[in-house]
Amino acid sequence: MQDGQRAARPKVTIVGAGMVGGALTQFLALRDYADIVLVDIVEGLPQGKALDLMQAGPILGFDTRITGTNGYTGTTDSDVVVITSGIARKPGMSRDDLLRTNMGIVRSVTALVVEHSPAAVVIVVSNPLDAMCHVAYDAAHLPRERVIGMAGVLDAARFRTFIAMELSVSVEDVSALVLGGHGDTMVPLSRFSTVNGIPLPELLPADRIAALESRTAKGGAEVISLLKTGSAYTAPGASVLQMVDAVILDKQRVIPCSVLLQGEYGISGVFVGVPIKLGAGGVQEIIQLDLAEQERAALHQSANAVQGLVDAMARLASEPQV
Ligand code: NAI
Ligand code: 2OP
Repeated sequence: MQDGQRAARPKVTIVGAGMVGGALTQFLALRDYADIVLVDIVEGLPQGKALDLMQAGPILGFDTRITGTNGYTGTTDSDVVVITSGIARKPGMSRDDLLRTNMGIVRSVTALVVEHSPAAVVIVVSNPLDAMCHVAYDAAHLPRERVIGMAGVLDAARFRTFIAMELSVSVEDVSALVLGGHGDTMVPLSRFSTVNGIPLPELLPADRIAALESRTAKGGAEVISLLKTGSAYTAPGASVLQMVDAVILDKQRVIPCSVLLQGEYGISGVFVGVPIKLGAGGVQEIIQLDLAEQERAALHQSANAVQGLVDAMARLASEPQV
């Protein structure tokens, strides 16, 4: 057999080899179209996860090359970079503490990955999501089309799951839309949610829809309260995979993502979840829906909550370090 190089595949770098980064790496490896570089500050963690997963290849049937590293040289010329690095809020830690720590991590890793991959599309996952998109955008110095936050896909998947459970129908037939920031103020839109084209309000009474919307908005907290030691990672990993697929395979998916609005929906200078067309190069279009007054007000309230975090980050950045 001849000794030869395999043709180059698209390269995806995942920063943060924790629970979400690990789940995404598994799902993406199974796709078998890209090579993956997994980065973490913990020595051995990304290397160990990469080797373990490579050894699943012969059984599951993929040739994905997965490299674990604690540096950025191997990430050079990535097509997509996913940022999952950060910490979760621990007992005794204030929201400001979390914000301060994660903004430092996201700022530094974004600058490093973009230095090595200036043409990449950057997908942000770290929380608080929309605020971290602002940090990544400021550190990356990339056009807004190439810095995108993952939240709407996950929040919509939760809404779809709850609708399917309530109606006892296949999730495959359920489509749902959730806009706004990734937090308590997110805006599930039942008017734009359907079961194979049938609008949700024709299938469920208003009080049941309200209950499913409320469960969706608290979807992350519900999983945390059950797991106790961490937050959701499987559905988040699958949600990022859908976005990576869309970019690398230029699928032109219409999905909700956190993007920097510049006048769309009457909002400027804030990252917030809205429907976009996602494909090669990142955001190809921001889709503007004709929202009802109540829906528009809820979206603006959610954007104001994100702006509150951005203001808090500016305050924290101006405080002297202790
Ligand atoms: P995790 O704690 O399992 O993993 C985070 C990893 O980041 C750790 O392995 C840690 O060593 C690494 N890390 C920390 N600082 C780093 C640095 N400077 N450079 C490289 N790696 C660094 O956390 P998990 O569960 O994977 O969640 C990751 C983030 O994603 C959290 O902020 C979480 O809140 C967020 N998240 C967001 C979701 C969304 O919908 N946007 C959904 C689920 C999680
Ligand atoms: C979630 O929604 C914690 O943001 C994370 O599961």
